[in-house]
Amino acid sequence: MRKTVLFDLDGTLLDTLQDITSATNEILSRYGRAACTVAEMRDFVGNGARHQFRSSWKGDISEELLDEALELYRPYYAAHIPDTRPYDGIIELLKGLKADGFRMAVVTNKPVLPTTSLCNKLLGDLVDVVVAESPERPKKPAPDMVEEAMRQLGVTRDDCVYVGDSEVDVATGRNSGMPCYACTWGYRDTDVLLRSGADILVDSAEELGRMLRCGEKSARLMTLLKRRRSVRKFEDRPVEEEKIRALLSAALLAPTSRSLSEVEYRAITDRTVIGFLAQCKEHGAGPLTTAPLALVLTADADKADTWIEDSSLAAIVLQLMAEELGLASCWIQMHLRKDEGDFDAEENVARVLGLPKGRRCVCVLAIGYRAEEKEANREPSLKDLRIHRL
Ligand SMILES: Cc1cc2nc3c(=O)[nH]c(=O)nc-3n(C[C@H](O)[C@H](O)[C@H](O)COP(=O)(O)O)c2cc1C
Repeated sequence: MRKTVLFDLDGTLLDTLQDITSATNEILSRYGRAACTVAEMRDFVGNGARHQFRSSWKGDISEELLDEALELYRPYYAAHIPDTRPYDGIIELLKGLKADGFRMAVVTNKPVLPTTSLCNKLLGDLVDVVVAESPERPKKPAPDMVEEAMRQLGVTRDDCVYVGDSEVDVATGRNSGMPCYACTWGYRDTDVLLRSGADILVDSAEELGRMLRCGEKSARLMTLLKRRRSVRKFEDRPVEEEKIRALLSAALLAPTSRSLSEVEYRAITDRTVIGFLAQCKEHGAGPLTTAPLALVLTADADKADTWIEDSSLAAIVLQLMAEELGLASCWIQMHLRKDEGDFDAEENVARVLGLPKGRRCVCVLAIGYRAEEKEANREPSLKDLRIHRL
């Protein structure tokens, strides 16, 4: 297990936005510049004070003037941090990790002065090492600051994970050769994190602690489960043959009761046939109208009384594999459904495909490249009433 955790500060451990905005506005006002809102500042932070101040200026500013303004900003901000707080559960997380023998560091693009003030005031001795912005080394996403933290801690990249809330942090993890746990409570929306390549999303400090202890493989699987959403509009772009084969070989690994069912898979890319499948039932077959691939699952109900269970398990394996392959999918239920004329949807599918007698169809999967954005699911609450811990 990786037992060193390198944390970003702003938007990850601490909610600093109000104080950053107030301090920036104080300095901007001294130059007669307009104030920024907290919402604007959310987009400006993450790349260091220079980038943040230049963005807040909202107009041309010379490097000399920027240097001068930053000279005023750094000490002013360090001395005015009344509203900054650790996010919910962060102190408990750090205490728990420390008790379990984890080593921890803060690695931030923030200037040294405010970083030191904040870490001393709010984190005390919970973190072992703090590396802040310095002219001596390139800032994140370059790996140098992470390497400095590793040097001070006496650990290697194989011991470490990186935790942050922005695309800069995702890139920092990648450039440093370690997993990045991207937290969704910070200053970036989840879709920004996913687009920047995040493959581990954590939605709370409690989940972060759990996933750090379970390891990054389970964290990635959990993220795959969150990312999988039913997609109902697909790009006009074929699914590559090797991906179709990867899907089918994954399906063959699905469990079946007593291995009796022999679920069969028909991969259909002919648009006319997929169009006919879309008409097999009255409601909810819309995704098939744009899908470049339809996977029809059938099972022999005479051979296995668990044909519905067997088919359903294969379907979810296929949906997860599709997500892992960068594809999206939607389950189109056929069993128990009717078409517009009140004809049985399953029989319609059998007719369209000329299925042998006895083969039953629980569902068709519409698969392709997504043409609609769907928000990732969030961590479900373990306080959910459906969960009973006996
Ligand atoms: C048994 C079953 C039948 C479903 N039937 C359809 C369907 O016919 N058409 C459709 O668009 N979605 C169908 N879905 C997808 C659900 O609507 C979808 O999974 C649910 O709304 C949750 O959304 P999510 O998959 O994005 O998390 C079905 C899902 C299941 C498990």
